[in-house]
Amino acid sequence: MLEQLLSILSDGRFHSGNDIAEAGGVTRAAVWKAVGRLEGLGVPVHRVRGRGYLVPGGMDLLDADAIYRGLSAEATERFGRPHVHLEVDSTNRLATDLAASDCGPVLVLAERQTRGRGRRGRNWVSPLGRNLYLSIVQRYSEGAGALAGLSLAVGIAVARTLRDVGVGGVSVKWPNDVLCNGRKLCGILIEVTGDMAGECAAVIGVGLNLSMSPEAGSEIDQPWTDVEREGCPYHSRNQWCVFLLNQLANVLDEFSNSGFAGFVREWNGLDHFRGQEVQLVAGQRVFSGVCRGVNSKGGLVIQQIDGEQVVYGGEVSLRGQP
Ligand code: BTN
Repeated sequence: MLEQLLSILSDGRFHSGNDIAEAGGVTRAAVWKAVGRLEGLGVPVHRVRGRGYLVPGGMDLLDADAIYRGLSAEATERFGRPHVHLEVDSTNRLATDLAASDCGPVLVLAERQTRGRGRRGRNWVSPLGRNLYLSIVQRYSEGAGALAGLSLAVGIAVARTLRDVGVGGVSVKWPNDVLCNGRKLCGILIEVTGDMAGECAAVIGVGLNLSMSPEAGSEIDQPWTDVEREGCPYHSRNQWCVFLLNQLANVLDEFSNSGFAGFVREWNGLDHFRGQEVQLVAGQRVFSGVCRGVNSKGGLVIQQIDGEQVVYGGEVSLRGQP
């Protein structure tokens, strides 16, 4: 019922309780309950006696068919038909399960995540109907070693998408954040399953902030932004998905053909910290020095007093020196 109610109210017009009940084959009491649930999820619903329910300004919902129609031939082949969910715990979790039970392409999107996964055990704040939360599965037969730099390449796909849409001030922060004017706009989480030395699947999750509600934004514990705040011209969430997936298909093709090496110059050109004093914490170790960008395997090069140190993935945190 919730899904249907959301879709009816997404046009921003009044709908009577009777009409909604009839469309959903439920009682008016069930509609009333579902409206309460919607409000609980942060959707403002106006109730006016004699006119019914309305969501002011409507809602920009995901539409699997519209996304599928917009995909390039390469993206269609790579990602297949999107699975769009109203609510999941995590699109990465669901994509991992689907990858285990089906060897075809996997593309999962959600209107809302209840336990969106971020890096380093963090939660990814994922309010209903506002941003993009998507996961795809890519299979590799040469083991996890072949994935070196994959998350950086995905960051490039996001940065190219933003550039093409006209968002300025975009940079990347090693290993896989995309920033806009120094604030986090997009997070990437890659989880690998299967045989780390052979056939494995990379679940690539992307969370792109499009229009964060102030309430949801207050839950984020790091400087963040979204494309709306950055003054980007409006595009529907379906269009954003299409832009991003088509760009991702290009980048993943390039990555499959030549690994990360072909992206090094572009990544270093976008590096937020290049040439700056940084501090990188990797477990118990702390590296301080000047950030020299990445090497052809996606490792971060830090120039220390006693020579260069290259750090590869893992649970690391990078920050500028005060
Ligand atoms: C980060 O901490 O920067 C990574 C955030 C990744 C969030 C995305 S949202 C879609 C996908 N599903 C998840 O549970 N996480 C990723």
